[in-house]
Amino acid sequence: MPELKETKGFQYLENSRFDRTSIQNQQRPAIARVETFKRYPPASRIPLPRTWSLDEERITLLLQNRRSLRKYRSEPLNLEHFAFMLWASQGITGQAGSYLFRATPSAGALYPVETYISVHSVEGLDAGLYHFDVEHFALDRLTDQDKAEDVAQACLNQTFMSQAAAVFLWTGVFRRAMSKYGDRGMRYVLLDAGHICQNVMIAAEAVDCGGCPIGAFYDSELNQLLQIDGEEESILYAASVGRKFLKGN
Ligand SMILES: Cc1cc2nc3c(=O)[nH]c(=O)nc-3n(C[C@H](O)[C@H](O)[C@H](O)COP(=O)(O)O)c2cc1C
Repeated sequence: MPELKETKGFQYLENSRFDRTSIQNQQRPAIARVETFKRYPPASRIPLPRTWSLDEERITLLLQNRRSLRKYRSEPLNLEHFAFMLWASQGITGQAGSYLFRATPSAGALYPVETYISVHSVEGLDAGLYHFDVEHFALDRLTDQDKAEDVAQACLNQTFMSQAAAVFLWTGVFRRAMSKYGDRGMRYVLLDAGHICQNVMIAAEAVDCGGCPIGAFYDSELNQLLQIDGEEESILYAASVGRKFLKGN
């Protein structure tokens, strides 16, 4: 099996990176578009019920109301709410033998995704960069400077992000999955990150907050900010979170 950097999975990651120079010349790829909905005109259509006689009202509302939120109230995020989002992302929720299971699934229970947070405005926490210590349900403080502006700039200057209470930054430690699954492991790392982000978006909704998933960023700038090498570990995904403007506010 090829070493990490020679795998097609890793090369795909490298080939799909954004940087400030190459993005200038980027054009839409010469790939024809296709419709958003796949239709089966000859098939008979069986309408589905839109109400459920389960105890489902809360989860239905959370799923129904989730929208990517790009405007946030300036008041700090409650620390308990922030901790709840972290728990929803990757908190330990079970154990079987030596396996510690988490709130989100992971292929082979290998958990190749690391969570970092750029804290801008969370009650009781100094602004700065933190790493989520899953094992101890704690935060490792990495810097004591507010990096909200730098993070927003590294995310193609999406300025709304600098107003978010916090920005989650998810990285992959590829070897964790690829030493077992080879190229397919890269697919699993990306899928794991999607699960984690979605849990955070729903958890945010549950505490009258909201978030926006972020896939547009200059990879090497975020890697530099997190002081990771982009090879053994590299940025995959991000999400801003903050308090919602509720009706009547
Ligand atoms: C993989 C992925 C990457 C995204 N990247 C960005 C982004 O960089 N900036 C942004 O404003 N929204 C981003 N979004 C949010 C989408 O624009 C949004 O999900 C879509 O418009 C549907 O709207 P909704 O989330 O409110 O349902 C991203 C969403 C996904 C799933």
